[in-house]
Amino acid sequence: VFLRNYWYVAAFSHEVGEEPLARVLLNEAVVLYRTADGRVAALEDACAHRLMPLSKGKVSGDALVCCYHGLAFNSEGTCVNVPRMTKPPHGIRVKSYPAVERYGAIWLWFGDPQTADESKIFDCSLLARDGSDSMRIYFYVKANFMLINDNLTDLLHVAFLHNPSHRARYNQVGASAIGNDEIEHGKLDVRQEGAEIHGDWIWSVITPPPTFKMLAGIQGRADGWVLSRFQPPSFFVNPIGFAETGTGAIESPLEQGKGKFSFTLYQCITPETERTTHFFKLLAHKWAPEMCERGNQLINNVNAEDIWAMELQQQTLDRNPAAQMHYIHTDGAVLRMRRLIEKLSREEAGA
Ligand code: FES
Ligand SMILES: [Fe+2]
Repeated sequence: VFLRNYWYVAAFSHEVGEEPLARVLLNEAVVLYRTADGRVAALEDACAHRLMPLSKGKVSGDALVCCYHGLAFNSEGTCVNVPRMTKPPHGIRVKSYPAVERYGAIWLWFGDPQTADESKIFDCSLLARDGSDSMRIYFYVKANFMLINDNLTDLLHVAFLHNPSHRARYNQVGASAIGNDEIEHGKLDVRQEGAEIHGDWIWSVITPPPTFKMLAGIQGRADGWVLSRFQPPSFFVNPIGFAETGTGAIESPLEQGKGKFSFTLYQCITPETERTTHFFKLLAHKWAPEMCERGNQLINNVNAEDIWAMELQQQTLDRNPAAQMHYIHTDGAVLRMRRLIEKLSREEAGA
């Protein structure tokens, strides 16, 4: 049910320290830990002896030692010690996942370990490889990952879900104030480039939405962009911003907070179960330190609205899994994304 031949983010680097970290990913219980030399290892979180979660145990050198009867498994998943035996019985092992640390995140390969190819890790080229410059934000979403994919390929919703002028009608909605009534009439450009689906919204000479106006310090009219580049199965690059009209839009050389406010989101979505999802965001920006807190607040406000909506959609699906969804003319990118996922799922299933 989930595409497996991909690198997914399992955790941010800072989440994996001395203690093993348990996390369900693609419906599999996984334990992440750091070996004595600082490398990250990822094993199936069930001891091969009596299925006790290995995450309850402790790290010893390269190995993870089960808390129940003390069996030790190395980072390859091979049992390397059984108490009171000189040599562990042959063939006792747990599954291990290829793990790579990059951009301040831990990436796991869920396909055949023989085919794990690091060059296929989602490219976050604006970030330093070691992640030292990224702002990292995590959300836990009680909704299927495809509802997040929908949300990020359809950016028309910014004009509604994130528009404070709709707040009175829908309650909750629009507190982030990154939308306004003019946004709805932007130019939408949907196209596919290779395996990447683009759904770009561009605005010229409009009144900037309240939050962008404030953060950018824009006086008059502005040009804006919210670009969406989807890569299967659930990764997005989103350059977002507003700049004073006539200064070059996305290319505007104005400083952050002095007529321009912009950033790029790398969004990495990892299914937990069919109805819950880990949502990792890596943010590239050129904000001054005092702007970072406000930028962080902005992302949190916007996502509170998105997550509120997606969890309610999930509840509808829970009540009626066969519920029909319909497409409208601005859903070109959503339709392409859904079709691509279906095609890739058929290919992986070998159908
Ligand atoms: S269950 Fe892990 S050592 Fe027995
Ligand atoms: Fe949104």
